[in-house]
Amino acid sequence: MNAFSFYNPVKLIFGKGQLQAAKKELPKFGKKVLLVYGGGSIKKNGLYDEVIQMLSEADLEVFELSGVEPNPRISTARKGIDICKKEGIEMILAVGGGSVIDCTKLIACGAKYDGDAWDFVSRKAQPEEALPFGTVLTIAATGSEMNAGSVITNEETQEKYGWGSPLSFPQFSILDPTYTLSVPENHTVYGIVDMMSHIFEQYFNDATNTPVQDRMCEGVLKAVIETAPKLMEDRQNYEHRETILFAGTMALNKFLEMGYRGDWGSHNIEHAVSAVYDIPHAGGLAILFPQWMRHNVKINPARFAQMAVRVFDVDPAGKSESDIAYEGIDRLSAFWTSLGAPTRLDYYDIDDSKIDLMVEKAMVYGEFGNFAKLKGEDVKEILQASL
Ligand code: NZQ
Ligand code: ZN
Repeated sequence: MNAFSFYNPVKLIFGKGQLQAAKKELPKFGKKVLLVYGGGSIKKNGLYDEVIQMLSEADLEVFELSGVEPNPRISTARKGIDICKKEGIEMILAVGGGSVIDCTKLIACGAKYDGDAWDFVSRKAQPEEALPFGTVLTIAATGSEMNAGSVITNEETQEKYGWGSPLSFPQFSILDPTYTLSVPENHTVYGIVDMMSHIFEQYFNDATNTPVQDRMCEGVLKAVIETAPKLMEDRQNYEHRETILFAGTMALNKFLEMGYRGDWGSHNIEHAVSAVYDIPHAGGLAILFPQWMRHNVKINPARFAQMAVRVFDVDPAGKSESDIAYEGIDRLSAFWTSLGAPTRLDYYDIDDSKIDLMVEKAMVYGEFGNFAKLKGEDVKEILQASL
């Protein structure tokens, strides 16, 4: 194992009816709350009304920021920061998916900063203080509800980067599977692809002697692979939504990464693609990750073969390690396709005209990836193989 220290202060509040717990959590921080949400799904499924009722019973003064985009934009975070500063907001409640939560993380830190919040995303500055915030998660996908990461797009410069700070952990996150029943088919698939990708990012690492971590990763992946097709058949099924919601959180709350140093190269490439084309994050991952795997299988074929056998039930009898590894990657691709995920960038009308621009965006901080160190030429090859 690699040496590690682990820190995760998020209070996770899971299950039916748990929204009411926010009535106890929020008043600890004051009276004035900024409610942050997205493009209106919470109004359609009734959650908005429940949240407003809950906030009124908690006797809080409510301000609102709506319209956070999927792939949240710096301009929207700036609007939230302005409200916080002008109104003396004391805490934030994010109600939505990864985009709403990521935007809230930047608002929370930006509200206590005199400069422009993009400084945090561009790593020019580190937050020194932040407003406390909680989340009510509405879609199983990113794990943002229980980690400190945030991914923000600068729409003017076509940049999309992740950042994080010990101050960008939620104080609490409420996960009621009921609120995920309304997630449409495509975003249900994207969420499943995203959480599986997060596990792969961690599973492909340079550590040795990690049998506990390996089995934990494989176990979560297996549960997702067993449940996802049933959920796609019956999207109103509470138990399947519950399993997938919990899996999404466990996939990226960093429990699985203890003792590993994850790779995260596919995420870096995907962020460059969605910076330029504004596509759904995991739609991009479904296309790019299998290509990243094919590009890098030679680095440690045994690791890929282990995944193939343990996670995708590839029969190893009479096959070379490399054949087993490739069969596992093919099975992963086939699994995502069977759920309805895209396989090629042309699904999003992406051709080769902006490949160099995407490579440039991906390479802005130099070579990246811990399992596979990627140079510009590697990124270009992976993108070309994905067209
Ligand atoms: O905006 P609304 O109207 O709420 O609709 C959203 C949005 O259109 C909809 N939705 C969410 N919950 C719903 C629902 N529709 C019906 N019923 C519900 N219960 O789903 C759409 C997608 O929402 P979004 O929040 O964008 O999805 P997701 O959670 O996948 O977040 C994606 C963002 O997170 C970043 C991605 O790059 C992307 O910007 N990531 C954040 C990470 C993190 N903070 O740790 C890690 C990830 O790897 C990822 O990069
Ligand atoms: Zn992701």
